[in-house]
Amino acid sequence: MRHTIIALLFFSLLGFSKYSLGGDPVAGEKRYGESCINCHGPAGKGAASYPKISGKEVSYITAMLETYRDEIEVGPNSSLMIMMAMPLTDEEIANLAAYLKDAKYQPNINNNN
Ligand code: HEC
Repeated sequence: MRHTIIALLFFSLLGFSKYSLGGDPVAGEKRYGESCINCHGPAGKGAASYPKISGKEVSYITAMLETYRDEIEVGPNSSLMIMMAMPLTDEEIANLAAYLKDAKYQPNINNNN
């Protein structure tokens, strides 16, 4: 019984820390592929007038996405980003930031990026 309680405590702490200390980069990558890659390119490397968004601090990405989600204009093309950020949940923003912080574009003969 005691072990069960300890195990339960352990797993609930794990679950808690995952949500409060940082996002899940794997979930972030999946979300990125669903709605960000078309403009920001593979691994957030940027494309044409769409800024590079990989390799930035979690706090920066989080703050930017929250700003756009609040419908606040930052640059000349903010309306595009506001549209993209409005449906994001806090958890999705944390996941995206965790993924983008370390995302690296690696051109490779096995893909056609
Ligand atoms: C329709 C094209 C488009 C899509 C899709 C898109 N973005 Fe953007 N993003 C932009 C543009 C354009 C800007 C610059 C906006 C401005 O002028 O303020 C931008 C800016 C940003 C910035 C701020 C960059 C900086 O250096 O300040 C972040 C972070 C960002 N986008 C993340 C995302 C994420 C995460 C997604 C997916 C949920 C996404 N974007 C989807 C076009 C897009």
